[in-house]
Amino acid sequence: MANERILITGADGLLGQELVQKLGERDSYKLLATGREAAPRTEDTPQDDYEKLDVCQADEIQRIFADFSPEYVINCAAMTAVDACENNRDECWRVNAQAVEHLAKACHSRGTHLIQLSTDFVFNGKNGPYRENDRPEPLNFYGKTKLAGENAARTAGVGKWTIVRTNVIYGAATGLPRMDFVEWVCDNLQNNKIIGAYTDQWRTPSYTHDLALGILRIIHFQKTGVYNLSGRELMNMYDFALTIAQAFDLDSKFIKPVLQNSDNQPARRPKHTGLITLKAETELDYRPLSIKAALAHLRLRKKSARTGHPPVDAWC
Ligand SMILES: NC(=O)c1ccc[n+]([C@@H]2O[C@H](COP(=O)([O-])OP(=O)(O)OC[C@H]3O[C@@H](n4cnc5c(N)ncnc54)[C@H](OP(=O)(O)O)[C@@H]3O)[C@@H](O)[C@H]2O)c1
Repeated sequence: MANERILITGADGLLGQELVQKLGERDSYKLLATGREAAPRTEDTPQDDYEKLDVCQADEIQRIFADFSPEYVINCAAMTAVDACENNRDECWRVNAQAVEHLAKACHSRGTHLIQLSTDFVFNGKNGPYRENDRPEPLNFYGKTKLAGENAARTAGVGKWTIVRTNVIYGAATGLPRMDFVEWVCDNLQNNKIIGAYTDQWRTPSYTHDLALGILRIIHFQKTGVYNLSGRELMNMYDFALTIAQAFDLDSKFIKPVLQNSDNQPARRPKHTGLITLKAETELDYRPLSIKAALAHLRLRKKSARTGHPPVDAWC
């Protein structure tokens, strides 16, 4: 058995938690999950497989590489709150761009394959959905730093980097400082609170379960270059909110259609993005669930987490 050694950064985040779970279920990988805190955020991550790592600290990266000798690094660590990135530019640059340089350097010196997570926000949103080789033109600082992170990853060594672009992630992670869109909609509707959802922001929402399986396929097939991994259905955020309400049996009358330029947000958002996943479907046999199936799957997982009953995982 191969027992490939995989280091995950940002393992306490929305996608990181799913990757830890999926990789942990498989014997063929030796996993080291890392995050900013001394202990993992969820009980699902065994303390023995976890270490503290601030990706902005090059010496910490060197120490982890010396101890663990990863064959793959999946970099999920990022500053992802888009408005906070606009307002705290130095920190955003350090985490999303400079830290990737540190990781890429460490990968280059040891022949490690770097899988760098990136975003639809590298595009301007004028003519999405986007393919892998479309020309980036970020509108906000978050997008600029993620593009710089992509460029840094490209220096990880010939044939030793993969950039995975995704958008609007939702999943079953727990203990996060911020809710994902699905949780935010459910939380508000359960409390009979009115929410505004954008009719002019188009995305292909992405379930962490599908993303993690896609990333496992990248590792399995040793694929390099740029890959879009996301859901396949393009919809605006208002329709996505309605679909969530239906999937969770919640009252959609509290969801109001709004235009994004009616809000005064610090960071500009691209309007029409979404990602075309044809390359991943063809080369990786990537088959994401439909949004309805993904939300039904997520609902079962959340329910089993609450009741303590084993997950009903017919699709896994
Ligand atoms: N969420 C989306 O809709 C979305 C869309 C497109 C692309 N992406 C990309 O997908 C990737 C994963 O995103 P996500 O949704 O899982 O984000 P997330 O939930 O915010 O997770 C990011 C993780 O990185 C950690 N982190 C921040 N600074 C760090 C540092 N200096 N050292 C180590 N860890 C650090 C965060 O720690 P704390 O929890 O302590 O802050 C968090 O656990 C990111 O590259 C993101 O840019 C996300």
